[in-house]
Amino acid sequence: MTKLVTKLKQKNYAKDILHTGRLGAFSTSAAKYTSSIDIDGRLLSAVVSVNAAHVIMLFEQGIIDQPIAGRLLRALKGIPPDLDMKTELEDVHMNVEDYLISELGKDTGGMLNLGKSRNDQVATALRIAVREQLILLGNSIVMIEKALLSQAARNAGSPMPGYTHLQRGQPVTVGHHLLAHFDSVNRDFSRLVDCYLRVNECPMGAGALASSGFNLDRERVAELLGFDSVLENSLDAVSSRDFATEVMYLCAQIMTDLSRLAEEIILWTTKEFSFSEISDKHASTSSMMPQKKNAIVPEIFRARTSQVIGDLVGAMGLLKALPLSYNLDLQELTRNMWSALDKTSSSVSVLAEVIDAMKFNTETLLAATSDDFLYATELAEYLVRKFKLPFREAHGRVGKLVKYCISKSKQFKDLSTEEILQILEVEISQKELGSITDPGKTLQRRSTTGSPNPKLVSASAKKRLLEIAKHERTLYSFQRGISESKKLLWSTADRIKKVGAAHGVRLSEGSSTEVKN
Ligand code: ARG
Repeated sequence: MTKLVTKLKQKNYAKDILHTGRLGAFSTSAAKYTSSIDIDGRLLSAVVSVNAAHVIMLFEQGIIDQPIAGRLLRALKGIPPDLDMKTELEDVHMNVEDYLISELGKDTGGMLNLGKSRNDQVATALRIAVREQLILLGNSIVMIEKALLSQAARNAGSPMPGYTHLQRGQPVTVGHHLLAHFDSVNRDFSRLVDCYLRVNECPMGAGALASSGFNLDRERVAELLGFDSVLENSLDAVSSRDFATEVMYLCAQIMTDLSRLAEEIILWTTKEFSFSEISDKHASTSSMMPQKKNAIVPEIFRARTSQVIGDLVGAMGLLKALPLSYNLDLQELTRNMWSALDKTSSSVSVLAEVIDAMKFNTETLLAATSDDFLYATELAEYLVRKFKLPFREAHGRVGKLVKYCISKSKQFKDLSTEEILQILEVEISQKELGSITDPGKTLQRRSTTGSPNPKLVSASAKKRLLEIAKHERTLYSFQRGISESKKLLWSTADRIKKVGAAHGVRLSEGSSTEVKN
């Protein structure tokens, strides 16, 4: 009986490589509660790379010798991508170390964590994994930019009412409206590039918080992992997560910007507006009302926007007042970051498809621009130009004309010359009025930079195509930096494994030996 109780008790405790010194066995429920295994799968390959770079550096610095380095590197390369990770080992970092110890024995495997900690390692691995995610996000922004530009170019000259306060204001064109969304998301792209540069700094070498007594070469580890520089201060390196909140802010900003377009698509596709129609591919119907065609992608986009904002706010709340340096709270922030990145990338890509496939009802849009009140500003400006009236005076007189028209249920074009003369106190012919209220002519009269003149809209769309090509080059150069560092890392590892070089000899590309220390 006592034996059985002891056995049962033992079952509730997990044995792991960390609970052999200061601490006794770890409770399974505590392990389960505090573990990050459920989200660590996406960090595994980055963690393996960080370990390999660290081992190479330890060897090059003469801190570990070749047989140990070679064995560690060989075993690291052999880690299965679907490594079965044990919850009781807390996280991916301990699982990798445990794997190496069980493969190579304690004498060799036990050297893996010399001069490093999970704290600098996780911060580094996160940045490596985030880099790839930012490139994916960048590609989805490029996708939506392409969709917006091709629709803008196709509809550069299609007049539509422009709104303020969701009340009709002045005529614009569909192309002009879409370019407004392009420009806003294009600023998000430049935020992404800025953000990437701050993400691409290497915390490795900071150790747990105060680096190490061994002479680590942080710059070399950064180089092997494709970072632009090291994140200098060791306390800052392990405790800062502003790179993550910046990524989440970027996601929240992208989602917020595009949610405005998503909302417009929902409005435009209502019977009341009928400005556009989304493809059947992206719509759903009601299980009861057979006539329904619901714009469900933009609806979900709207909802995901709130969730991504929530991820950012949650992360800021988690960081607020957190003392330096590492605290396990930081582990939980990682969840928010993946959630924001995954939701944003998928939302932007699918919205890009919706935009690409949607159709604008140019006839309905044109008919909507025959609402004469859209030209009230134009008429006021005409009075200033022709009769030298002060603008405020012209604004008042046209306002009275609008009020008069509403009371008579008329448009400007239905008024007689006498009625116009009586209210505007100047003479304007029907022909002049016809030209003022003509959408095409009104749009062509605009020559100011950034105005909705169809010619300017077409030119802007063309110019922005070059922007897209530039973005693609930027993303390619980020990607190339990553791939080249991977090649450098594993070819260096291979040379160390094969050559069996002398203790403390750096085997760099080109020159085969360079004695250090
Ligand atoms: N699992 C942790 C994370 O994701 C790794 C660092 C844990 N460090 C520690 N001292 N317990 O942040």
